[in-house]
Amino acid sequence: MSNKEAWGSRIGLILAMAGNAVGLGNFLRFPVQAIQNGGGAFMIPYLVCFLLMGIPLLWVEWSMGRFGGKFGHHSTPFILDTMDKRKFWKYIGVFGIFTNIAVAAYYCYLESWTLSYVYHSVIRTFSGQTQDQVAGFFGSYVGLESPVEPIFFWILCLVLNTWILSRGLSGGVEKVAKIGMPLLIIFGLFLAFMAITMKAGDHGAINAGTVGLNFLWTPDFSTIWTPKVWLAAAGQIFFTLSVGMGSIQCYASYVKSKDDIALNAMSAGWMNEFVEVVLGSAIIIPIAVGYLGIENVVEMTKNGGLGLGFKTLPYLFEQWGPMLAVISGVAWFGLLFFAGITSSLAMGTPVMGFLQDEFGWKREKSAWTFGGVVLLLGLPTVLFFNYGVFDEYDYWAGTVSLVVFALLEIILFSWVFGINKGWKEITDGADIKVPSIFKFIIKYITPLLLGWVFIASLPNIWSKITHDAIKKQILAATDPVVIEQLHTQMLYVNISRIGLILVWVGIAYLVYVAYKKRMKEKRFTS
Ligand code: PHE
Repeated sequence: MSNKEAWGSRIGLILAMAGNAVGLGNFLRFPVQAIQNGGGAFMIPYLVCFLLMGIPLLWVEWSMGRFGGKFGHHSTPFILDTMDKRKFWKYIGVFGIFTNIAVAAYYCYLESWTLSYVYHSVIRTFSGQTQDQVAGFFGSYVGLESPVEPIFFWILCLVLNTWILSRGLSGGVEKVAKIGMPLLIIFGLFLAFMAITMKAGDHGAINAGTVGLNFLWTPDFSTIWTPKVWLAAAGQIFFTLSVGMGSIQCYASYVKSKDDIALNAMSAGWMNEFVEVVLGSAIIIPIAVGYLGIENVVEMTKNGGLGLGFKTLPYLFEQWGPMLAVISGVAWFGLLFFAGITSSLAMGTPVMGFLQDEFGWKREKSAWTFGGVVLLLGLPTVLFFNYGVFDEYDYWAGTVSLVVFALLEIILFSWVFGINKGWKEITDGADIKVPSIFKFIIKYITPLLLGWVFIASLPNIWSKITHDAIKKQILAATDPVVIEQLHTQMLYVNISRIGLILVWVGIAYLVYVAYKKRMKEKRFTS
């Protein structure tokens, strides 16, 4: 076996897993989802989804990973294959490689913005700019008005990721997590402190920091039964915990077979929730609401909103004076960078594990191959950002695919592999007593809730497939230039879908080749 990777220490493993989960999702996606779904109305479904889907899936995925690792498997196709004799499971496992490649393709671009914004905070690009100018800067950046800089930072970011991956788990990923995670928490605490103690009237703020916090934390029961809010909450829980992706299984497959996973899974999972719920809610929302008011902030997140932290915060930091503007800018975008890179590294490992296990490739070759694929697949998100290609990837790979894969894997775990065997895998070597109610939850509640989330999102998926939103805009538009542009947008979106499908099929083909190879060499999978 050519794949001899291992974690260096328990703390390193927990930090790497926490780093996997803590990402741009915690600081950029979570606040936007919360605002779009009514603030206090979002938090109840969110917490319920965490308890009933997030925690169970963490245990399921960690235990599946450690189980597969015993047989020398480090990616989901053959991990799933060891759990049942039916042959199709390995093709379900394709999702656990596909999602990582496709999410990395747009995620690394987003991650590269943070590097560029650290640079611009240091050279004080935003000094003296109005809010509109700061927002305009972002628009021209992603609109590639001067393409050299965005492309430079993007390539730099890809090379950094690839290089760290090529140094291995303990020599690369774990080291970055050990530096990045503590720094991120320090930067986050500093910014949260600044945000929460902000008073109305100080440096031009119109609201105190607590106004934004109250918006988020005052429970609002009026929309609690709206499916859309539940779907958003479930989607956020999946994205933020990195479940349904295949990357947790991969990290866990390098855990020794006697080592604890029950407590480790909780440590990493709760660390993610601390960062999301405490730090993630205490930075963008209080500051943006403090300077712009709730209505404006809600308005700004109407059409997507991952850019909110780039379009607003640099302006607001400038109001604190030059010194704090630089410090806060570096802290905010630096925090985002560490959050991002520890996650994108996690997306690389399943792909590398697969190539190393099945084709005997070296670590370096596998890492650079991953980098190359992400470069190719990411290119359209960079070039055609304004045509919705980026959002298209996020929808199919970063949302739908997670729910589909999680649903299938929990069925495999609880009903095919069997909850009794599964429960033993979770509790073996455990350093905590896993509450036995979770046996019931994993068997019934999580699959049912997941199934409901999936079925309830079908109408939405269908209207995406048929381009409903774009078609409506075309009907409403009168300007021929705009109509032309919308048609181009539809074309690019279709091309990007074909690209994503090809990637899925390509991975499935490699799984097939690997399977044939195993048969020939009589290396049976379980
Ligand atoms: N959980 C990460 C975040 O919150 C995203 C991620 C996706 C990480 C896929 C690993 C794999 O940003």
